[in-house]
Amino acid sequence: MLELLEKCAIEAALKAGAILKEGFGSTFEIKNKTGINNLVTEYDFKAENAIIETIKSYFPEHKFLAEETGDTGKEDSDYQWVIDPLDGTVNFAHAVPVFCVSIAVRKGKDVLCGVIYHPLLDELFVAVNGGGAYLNGKTISISDSDDMKTSLLVTGFPYNVNENPHNCVDTFVGIVQSGIPIRRLGSAALDLAYVAAGRFDGFWESSLFPWDMAAGYLLVKEAGGKITQYNGDEFWLDSPTILATNGLIHDQILKSINYSKK
Ligand code: IPD
Ligand code: CA
Ligand code: CA
Repeated sequence: MLELLEKCAIEAALKAGAILKEGFGSTFEIKNKTGINNLVTEYDFKAENAIIETIKSYFPEHKFLAEETGDTGKEDSDYQWVIDPLDGTVNFAHAVPVFCVSIAVRKGKDVLCGVIYHPLLDELFVAVNGGGAYLNGKTISISDSDDMKTSLLVTGFPYNVNENPHNCVDTFVGIVQSGIPIRRLGSAALDLAYVAAGRFDGFWESSLFPWDMAAGYLLVKEAGGKITQYNGDEFWLDSPTILATNGLIHDQILKSINYSKK
């Protein structure tokens, strides 16, 4: 079963990636979902449709949680596909080449398989529960940096950042002022894939959705990393905050986040 889930997830991600690659840099429809900068393009829908159709052709009895179409499929299925057809929509809408497709499948509390695909670089990140994490077929693992001060970190800000939930701006300012380099790619799924691949040493963000994190969560886990909430509690896909690191600098970042629900 795991092998077929993986095959299906990869096929769906490659198909969606090809659609996004074709649309990237062209003229297309862009709408606002909420606020003024939470965008959705016609390619978000095209990619999502291709993903769901592909999965249905393998598993017509499964259910879906997808960013643009919500909960669909066979409600009583044990298998749920968690899909972000285009993570990094604001980048895509502005022709910034940093975005990906993120697909995971879960059964109960287990994420069984996760795939993140960056179509412009043709980078395919795949994780299988208990089976490791891979980039284009080669095993990846988290970095070995044990000092936050010499780490490369990445974060993101939720669309409602103006309401400053979960101390996100304070934490950013605190860490950046101490001279530590922080990136903000604009794609939480890629942030997590890059932690898994050892490119970043740590990532934190609040108010993400399961489709932003499901595949990346499994990648980081399978690559040997650590994931918790900001208060150190166990992470799950509907947690309000996420800190994903190589494990070695986890406590140092937790200390900097110094999380309190204001
Ligand atoms: C967004 C990206 C971004 C993060 C936002 C997400 P979207 O997803 O992952 O990095 O900061 O919170 O909503 O809208 O591009 O799929
Ligand atoms: Ca997203
Ligand atoms: Ca999206």
